[in-house]
This record gives sequence, C-alpha cells and structure tokens, in this order.
Amino acid sequence: MRYLTVALTKGRLAQKTLELFSKVGITADGADDKNTRKLIFTNEEFGVRFFMAKGPDVPTYVAYGAADLGIVGKDTILEEGRKIYEVLDLGYGKCRMCICGPESAREALSSGDQIRVATKYPNIAKDYFLNRKHQTVEIIKMNGSIELAPIVGLSEVICDIVETGSTLRENGLTVLEEVCPLSARVVVNQVSMKMENERITKLINRLKEEL
Ligand code: PRP
Repeated sequence: MRYLTVALTKGRLAQKTLELFSKVGITADGADDKNTRKLIFTNEEFGVRFFMAKGPDVPTYVAYGAADLGIVGKDTILEEGRKIYEVLDLGYGKCRMCICGPESAREALSSGDQIRVATKYPNIAKDYFLNRKHQTVEIIKMNGSIELAPIVGLSEVICDIVETGSTLRENGLTVLEEVCPLSARVVVNQVSMKMENERITKLINRLKEEL
C-alpha cells in the first residue's frame, strides 16, 4: 500500500494534530519525543507517514504532491495562495488576523491617507487594503516581532496575528480592524484527492468525528 503522506506544521500545531490522529488510532511512533531531531514518522499499520515542516512550506509540499495532506494555519494558506483543497477546519490554533497599532493611528487608517503597513503577511495585507478597503498603502515585509514597527516609527500600523492580545497590550498597541478569523485547517493535494479519494475521505471523516 502506498503511504499517505501528511505534512505537519512543526511545533504546537503538530503536537495537537498528532494527538488528534492518535484519537482515531493513528499513532506516529517517536513523534512525541520532544528531544528528537527526526523529521519523518511512519505508521505501518495504516500506511500513513507524517513529516514536520515549517508552516509556509506545508502548502508547497501539498501543492507539488510531496505530501497528500497538510495541516496548516489559515493565515499561511491565504498568504501562500497555492492551488490546494482546504477540506476541514480543525478548530484549534484559533486566532485572528488584525490591523493593529497605537490608538493614535486610527485616524490615519480611516482617513485614506497613504500609510505604511509592516507585516509578515504581505499578500493578506495587500488583499485586505486594496481589494476590500480600496485603500492604497505601502506594505513593508518583515520577518517577526512585527509589533516593533509602529513603536520605532517604521510604519503606522501592522497586519499581524493576535491570539491572546498580550503582545499588543504589553507594547501599548491595540486592534484597530479585524481582517479574518484563523485556525488550523486540513489541506489536500488536488491529484491525491482523486487518486486516493476513498482513503482520504475516510480519514477526514474520522478526524471530523473526533473534533
Ligand atoms: C505571533 C504574532 C504576535 C503574537 C500574538 O508572533 O506575530 O506577535 O504571536 O500572540 P498574542 O496575541 O497571544 O500575544 P510569534 O510568537 O509567532 O513570533 P514572531 O514575532 O516571530 O512572529
């Protein structure tokens, strides 16, 4: 039997997903060892193989068929824009994509002035400002600690993930607008969905029952 390959997002999302898979009886030997540097784990009984990847690479592996399925945040799916099927909302990893900044930026944001937006998600930010708000902005791509940008004067606002809101609070920033809600999703390669339809559908339905 051909392995069904599942790309997981390294870290907390992978751990939660492996717990969910083990609830449906599919365990991955050795994957719960926090010290392991291994990247691939197999379950021979079900012919399932898991591998650990960086979030933004998960849609890439799935789009090219190197993985049949992937588990990844909706933010990454939107940002990467790959041709893949999104088939299930797992409901965990819940957070929001928001436009944030100091309260003083609210006016500039609604006035239609050309403002600067720092973000790790340039495609999401561009889509939000240009297509939804019809507002011209300058987008500055950053790689992390985005909250710094409006504090040190790099940008007026940021487009970033808010989970508990504590990073914003501790840095004197606030949510100004909400872009969209986010959570972990199951994505599937378009060819695999045809070729392995029965196995994939059965697996998705079993996961759904455990949510
Ligand atoms: C994310 C996000 C925010 C923070 C939000 O950053 O970019 O900074 O978490 O979480 P909170 O609302 O619970 O405070 P992450 O920790 O992934 O690191 P990064 O700054 O490198 O992006």
